[in-house]
Parts: sequence; C-alpha cells; structure tokens
Amino acid sequence: MDKSKIRNFSIIAHIDHGKSTLADRILELTKTVTKREMQEQLLDSMDIERERGITIKLNSVQLEYKAKDGQEYVFHLIDTPGHVDFSYEVSRSLAACEGAILVVDATQGVEAQTLANVYLAIDNNLEIIPVINKIDLASADVERVKEQIENIIGLDCSDAPLISAKTGLNIEDVLEAIVSKIPAPDDANDQAPLRALIFDSYYDKYLGVVMSIRVREGVIKVGDKLRLMASGAEYEVTEVGVKTPKIVKTGSLEAGEVGWIAASIKTIKDINVGDTITNAANPALEPLDGYKKMKPMVYCGIYPVDTNKYQDFKEALEKIELSDSSLVYEPETSQALGFGFRCGFLGLLHMEVIQERLEREYNLNLIATAPSVIYKVFLTNGEDIVIDNPAKLPDPQKILRIEEPFVNVKITTPEEYIGDLMNLCQTKMGVYKDLEYIDNQRRVLVYDMPLAEIIFDFFNKLKSISRGYASFEYELIGYKESKLVKMDILLNGDMVDAFSMIVNTKFAYNRGSQLTKKLKELIPRQNFEVPIQAAIGNKIVARETIKAYRKDVIWKLHAADISRKKKLFEKQKEGKKRMKEIGSVEVPQEAFIAVLKLD
Ligand code: GTP
Repeated sequence: MDKSKIRNFSIIAHIDHGKSTLADRILELTKTVTKREMQEQLLDSMDIERERGITIKLNSVQLEYKAKDGQEYVFHLIDTPGHVDFSYEVSRSLAACEGAILVVDATQGVEAQTLANVYLAIDNNLEIIPVINKIDLASADVERVKEQIENIIGLDCSDAPLISAKTGLNIEDVLEAIVSKIPAPDDANDQAPLRALIFDSYYDKYLGVVMSIRVREGVIKVGDKLRLMASGAEYEVTEVGVKTPKIVKTGSLEAGEVGWIAASIKTIKDINVGDTITNAANPALEPLDGYKKMKPMVYCGIYPVDTNKYQDFKEALEKIELSDSSLVYEPETSQALGFGFRCGFLGLLHMEVIQERLEREYNLNLIATAPSVIYKVFLTNGEDIVIDNPAKLPDPQKILRIEEPFVNVKITTPEEYIGDLMNLCQTKMGVYKDLEYIDNQRRVLVYDMPLAEIIFDFFNKLKSISRGYASFEYELIGYKESKLVKMDILLNGDMVDAFSMIVNTKFAYNRGSQLTKKLKELIPRQNFEVPIQAAIGNKIVARETIKAYRKDVIWKLHAADISRKKKLFEKQKEGKKRMKEIGSVEVPQEAFIAVLKLD
C-alpha cells in the first residue's frame, strides 16, 4: 500500500459541538455508507449513546476519498467522546493518529473541554486542524470564535473550514484539509519487527477478544504468532481486517494502518488496552509508549438486586472492563445489600453509563450506592489507611486526622453568571484562585475544592445557574486535611451500611436533615411505621417518620373496577423491580443516591 495516501485522524471537540454529526457527513460524502444505510450518528452505536446523544466509546472506521488532486486517499477516522469523564478514551484514540480535527461550535466558542482535548492532541504531537461548525445558525459568530482559537490556543484560523455539519455545507473543505495538512505515516517501516498499539478491545462470542490496533512498524497477518508485550501471552492470529464501518477482512495490516485483529482469545485478562503487540518469531525489543493509566476518582458499591445473579454480574464486569480499562472493581459485601463489587470510575457520568451498560447489555438489575471519593485516614496507632467506602471508616477515637482529595476546577462561563457561580463554589468549600479573561464575553473562574463536593450535584447546579452556558473541567491537585465525620442512616432502628457517608462537620447536621427528609419522600409506605434517623456516632442528628398505610389501597377500589385494579398491580410490580428489601423495609434504588440530589 502507498503510505503517502494514508491519513489517520480523530475529531476532537467540546461536548455537543458536533463531532458525531461531522463524522456522519464525512462518511456520507466519501460514500462509505449509502444514504439508505445512514442512520443518524452512525458511529454512536451503543444504545445509551443514541439516547443520551453523547459519544462514549471511541470507534474507528476506514474510508476512501478521491481528492481534488485526482488521487485516492485512505482515511482512518477515529471518533472520540467529548465529556470530561471520558478524556481517557480521547487520549487513547489520539495515540493512534497523526492529526486531529478540532471542531468548535460557532455559537459557543472555545470551552473547557475544547482546551483539554487540544492539550491531549499537543501531547501526542498531532497536527491540529481547526474547523468552525454550526455556521448555519443565526447566532453563529465566526469572527469572534476565530479570534478565540487564535488567542487562546494559538492555532492559525485564516483558512479554517467554516461548516455546517448539519446541512453538509463545506464538508469537502474538511476532507481537503485532511489531505493537505495531516502528515502521512510514510516513514512507517514494514520491514521492522512488528509493533502495534492496542487502543480498544471488545469481546465477541465467536471471535473472542477483538482488538483495535494501530500498526506502527512491521506487518501483521493471519497465521502469525503474536505476543502481547505486557502480559507475555502468545496467540495465533485468526482474523485481520478493517471497519468500513462494516467488518471487512483484509488478511493483513501494514505499518501506518489502523484496523482490528482477533486470535481466538478467551482469556480476557491477557489483553490490556495500551499494550504493544509484537511477533513472537521476530519480537521487537521495546514496547511502544503506553497510556498514562487513569486513576478512578469516584467509587460506589454495585449489587445485583437478585443475589443469585452475583456470578453473572461478575462475568459482565470482566467483559465490560475489556472495552473500558479505566473501570476498576473488587468484591465487597454489605450487610444491607449482600454480595457485590466496589467499583471505581473516572467520574459520575462514567459511573452512570457503566451501570446502564451492565443492566442493558447483560440484562442485570442492579443497585448502586451513593458515590464516594478515596479518603486517607491517619490512625492514632501510627497506621494510615485508605477508605473508599464510608461504611468502613474506623471509630472517631481511633482517628488522628482525615485527608480528602482536592481538585483544581476551571469553570468557563459567560461573564454574567460569575457572581452566582462564585457563590456556588463558596458553598462547596471552594477556595478562590483566579479569574482569567478569554475575550470580552467569557471568563475562566478557578477554584480549589474538595472532589467530594463536585460529586454532590455540582454539575447540575452549575448548568442551572448558567442556563447551560458554563462548562467545567477539573484536575486532581492532591490531598488535604478536612474536618470530616461519618454519618450513618438508621432505617427502622437498623443501621444501613449502604447509606453511610463521610461529610464535612460544617454540613453534617444540614445534610442529615435533608437526607432523612428526602428518604421519607422516596421510600414507599410500608404496613408499619418506619423511623429514619441520621446519626453521627451515637448521636441522632435528624429524624423523620414514614407513616404506615392506613388500609391496603386495593380495598378502596370498586369491586367491578377490574382493569384499574390490574393497572395498579402492574404499577406496583414495575416499582418493585428496583426495590431492595432491607430488613423488613423495601427501599427503591433512588434512595441510595438521594444524597446526590440534596439542595
Ligand atoms: P458528543 O458526542 O456528545 O461529544 O457530542 P458531539 O460533539 O458529537 O455533538 P453531536 O454531533 O451529537 O451534535 C450535538 C448537537 O448539535 C446535535 O443536536 C446536532 O444535531 C447539532 N449540530 C451538529 N452540527 C450542527 C450544525 O452544523 N448546525 C446545527 N444547527 N446543529 C448542529
């Protein structure tokens, strides 16, 4: 293959600026998929992605383009997600490319995640092509956005394509820019020992583990014996191909190409995304640079509602881990919820998406507890321990001090919301650091604050205060001491470990009373009275009571009203699905995460 005709690139953008829509137009224009096959946002293949309109997993596709110079080019387009929780996926896809298209919404301009993604692209030495999207909208302000990109990022925008991914306007300019600006991998050496980077993988019932790879050097073909450099495992290659986006078998992949391979691998543990594949017969000496391993920021317990499903749940986690190596988990037991796993995530959205994927793709019914960060606890006996589950915090008399993770938060916002956003940060224990200027309308507000406070509904509040216009990103800066206590919740006199949380003493009473009130709303009436108490140590700090049913609701219905009765039963059954029996009280899933929705 003529390597000077290959272009490997990603599309990067802030969330909702139009990456997936642009990818769709590119597929259409290059006739990779016919109009009839074209489903909106073809690359977003997971159901959850379509419903939420966000991109979660990266996806790669090979396409052909006949450029204005009359030559045929082969593009590998690797789609990336835009949400802050998924920057891990972004850096993975960028490591497989030579260039990136930076999509900026002409009505919004440069936002937090635009910058974060640009930095990732720069780290990977990529050629970045700025593209200004949504110029069909009346509120588009192309000149202002060009100026922002030049001032803040330092990219020349004089010939940046001005497009509408929605209407298809000027998409060809993007394709031509890819040809003329992104370097070809033409120095890639087919003769060198094989080195291929695994940037994604998933499990297929028939093929076993399927790996998405970027071949840096050498050639890989069916029948070769491959070696995974990190695990040392060896397998014979059974299938090699590309996605167009249909699976196409090519038999081999050369240096510079992006595609997939399968090798009847059933041992999921052997495959690590970020690892290098080499040829066992002629191995490379050094692996390629892997990825920076991402550390989970947020932990929660996840339990099957039906305790008999524990084994299925465990297998599902193993399979999901294959396509999402940022997920970590280990077995855990809860008095209230039984056997489950403590799982670590990059952020809240990541947590929700994994729970949803587990339920849908593996047909499981799960309960997740309120998320927690990792605390460092220094004990009076000289030991220090880390706590990812509030229920495990030792007695206060054994604790010298507790440290919690702090993050540096950068909020990008139109000027008019600054006052209200500063108030929000202050109530979240934020420490003001800086106010930076982007242009005459936008500012970046910088605060240090406890990560735990970001988990507690920071995102929704930020969005509602700024009517959706502010965006934020955060970065871990380290651990600091805080005055923290464990608050337990007692239901009908019994402590429910899954409800325990670690709170700042400053809010403890307030959160206790809000949480008991919220639980009272969420837990349905039972046929006996249920007290809900919040306690710090032995001290009850708040109490609410769920009154008993006066009568069974059914008896209130007229005997002839059968269909209504049936409906009521169905509704009750539906409601039961996500209920967990704790002691003698039935508790719905929402109750376990109620703490996230407190005012
Ligand atoms: P994530 O995958 O969630 O990161 O978002 P994305 O950047 O892929 O954005 P997506 O392509 O899903 O587009 C977001 C929204 O903007 C969708 O409702 C699109 O229909 C809309 N949109 C995208 N491009 C254009 C455009 O050129 N003009 C207009 N008017 N709307 C657009």
